Amino acid sequence: MCGIVGYVGNKSVMDILVDGLEQLEYRGYDSSGVAVMCEDEIKVYKAIGKLNNLREELLKHKGEYEKSTMGIGHIRWATHGAPTVLNAHPHTCTCGNLVIVHNGIIENYKELREQLSKEGCVFRSQTDTEVVAHLVAKMYAKTKDLPKAVREATKQIDGAYALCVMHNDCKNTLVLTKRNAPLLVGIGENEFFAASDVPAIIKHTKKAMYLNDNQVVVLTPEKMILTDIEGNEISPKIELLPWEPVALSKMGYKHYMLKEIHEQPDVIRNILVGKLHAPDENIILNEVKLTKETLKNLNRIQIIACGTSLHAAMIGKYIIESFCGIAVDVEASSEYIYRKTVTDKHTLVIGVSQSGETADTLTAIKQAKAKGSHILIITNRPDSAMAREADSLVPVNAGIEVSVAATKSYTAQLMAFYLLGLYMAEIKESVPVAELNSYKAEMMLLPQKIEQILAHTEDIQKCARVYSSTKDFIFVARGINFPTALEGALKLKEISYINATGYPAGELKHGPIAMLDETMPVLSILMKGCVYEKLLSNSEEAKARNARMIALTNSKSEKLEDLFDNIIRVPEVQELFSPLVAIVPLQLLAYYIAEFLGKDVDQPRNLAKSVTVE
Ligand code: G6P
Repeated sequence: MCGIVGYVGNKSVMDILVDGLEQLEYRGYDSSGVAVMCEDEIKVYKAIGKLNNLREELLKHKGEYEKSTMGIGHIRWATHGAPTVLNAHPHTCTCGNLVIVHNGIIENYKELREQLSKEGCVFRSQTDTEVVAHLVAKMYAKTKDLPKAVREATKQIDGAYALCVMHNDCKNTLVLTKRNAPLLVGIGENEFFAASDVPAIIKHTKKAMYLNDNQVVVLTPEKMILTDIEGNEISPKIELLPWEPVALSKMGYKHYMLKEIHEQPDVIRNILVGKLHAPDENIILNEVKLTKETLKNLNRIQIIACGTSLHAAMIGKYIIESFCGIAVDVEASSEYIYRKTVTDKHTLVIGVSQSGETADTLTAIKQAKAKGSHILIITNRPDSAMAREADSLVPVNAGIEVSVAATKSYTAQLMAFYLLGLYMAEIKESVPVAELNSYKAEMMLLPQKIEQILAHTEDIQKCARVYSSTKDFIFVARGINFPTALEGALKLKEISYINATGYPAGELKHGPIAMLDETMPVLSILMKGCVYEKLLSNSEEAKARNARMIALTNSKSEKLEDLFDNIIRVPEVQELFSPLVAIVPLQLLAYYIAEFLGKDVDQPRNLAKSVTVE
């Protein structure tokens, strides 16, 4: 949520900043801005809306910044104050000498603003961020030492922040710090980059240092000095970033979302590499530290997540309960953190997060950790804050996901749950070996089955055309595919803005059925298995109310044609694995409808890829 990029070195800074912001645009995109050190002073340029508007603004001032080799940039997802030019970052102190960009939320900004206003600071925006500019400037006036001013200012701030600071007096210096929001330094030859996420800098360098909370780093073209909040020097831990720049290209697809949907067979293959070699061999999960003893003593599992990851978690409950016979509760992290949760050392707490930095989930796992629970994290970012909190880790290896609507990371999370469920079942000996082996054999066939769906999307495209003018959409399912219905509905509303809802089909008659008439499409996720017949009956109930009926099914039955107006068929698969084949057509349906309606598929309105505020 929001993106930061910074550079100090010997190259022309503007292209590096704007290109970096473009790579972070998926994190927020309602306004953007840059501040660059020009010959005589720092100059700030901002624009509302997409990054292209900033590009146009910059063109008007080209002569001013061409030689600049240092600067900071920001792309915003508004929290405090509407998306206006005045609220866009960078923000300055009263005299304009000090400039900052900020990700996160300053919780005590009202008190600080009141105090600083009394002291004569002139506020120009409605943001929480601006107080930090004034506060650091106040400390700088006292100390004449920028890093010290940053350290002293942050001691007075409550909340979450990643900050990048520049001052007119320090022509070659960037100062960075963070707490509960990610920030890293990319290391080049006589140059350093700052970024809130890897994509902004991966083109330039793979060598990087992640800042820990309350550390302050000072960057000049020649060197980097890392200190703690008291100014004591710390030796930096430099690592190699696991990303390849090619992951950030659309590879010929019109949108990242379509490319990422098509990557799913390979994502499944990748996650299986090294973890499952053959149906009769054990699952290998080296970073999972659950011993037979720990598992024996577990009486409960809690899974916490947000958004699409929450739907993967809900399917994870079915998987783990089926394989291991341990009771599993699933909860939205934002709910988990504000009630008296009962968790202890006999509870395994699983956090699921694509980004590994969603604020609610991070807070929730920290709370559970403090109560003594073993923390297992399923994430696409083994370099994330959540991964660092983990006692056990299951990296999902989906590669970077750029489109805001999560697709391949969801499939990968489901695969992580299947692997984890089987792994725990092997340790607990809770499933007969022959049955376990048949599950593993099925898992190895999944990539081909998804490839078959991706190779024949005609029916899905036809449905998209037929239903693109609808205002509402209902997805129904039962059992393990109920969360698939929720995820299908979420995908559709996220990118097409159609009011879509997912229901357990048995609940239709307890209320939602009142919504049904000849204008309402009802999509039934009819996968062969224990709830197939029941769901058919529920679909009949909807048909009797004249709803427009769509089936997503792996049944070959021709009888379905009497009941449904449109049928999307997928390959047969064991019921337990059906969520993996069922979700792909729903992702495509959402994609084609949004594309047909001309929506901004990869960057839907009001959303952000990772949400680092609670
Ligand atoms: C945002 C994204 C969703 C995502 C959710 C949780 O709302 O737009 O696509 O599912 O955050 O993110 P996480 O990174 O924790 O999976």
